[in-house]
Amino acid sequence: MDEWLAVADLSALARRKKMQVDVGGVPVALFLVGQKVFALADTCIHKQRSLSRGVMLNGCVVCPGHQWEFDPATGYEATQDRYQPSYEVRVEGTTVYVAERPRVMEPAATPGSGGAG
Ligand code: FES
Repeated sequence: MDEWLAVADLSALARRKKMQVDVGGVPVALFLVGQKVFALADTCIHKQRSLSRGVMLNGCVVCPGHQWEFDPATGYEATQDRYQPSYEVRVEGTTVYVAERPRVMEPAATPGSGGAG
């Protein structure tokens, strides 16, 4: 079972809306969108730029490298049909907790992946 790691204070995130934190030695980018906190692996799956240096635009995290736009909740990048690793987040009081391991996402649109159960 995954551990939850306390990674940030909500008030610090509220000031900046985004920040890089350490989750078991892995850089993770936190984003505050409205009242919700999302966590994506900070290192972009494209060319390793830091997503915490990107911006939020139209509900997406825009990578500063080549402007891929990731859904902050799932890490999905619609134009590339790929996922940035995403993490479960929990807020208790003013402490932000992130699951120590990323979610396992289904590969997007894998042809011929159906099976007979
Ligand atoms: S490095 Fe993120 S889009 Fe290229």
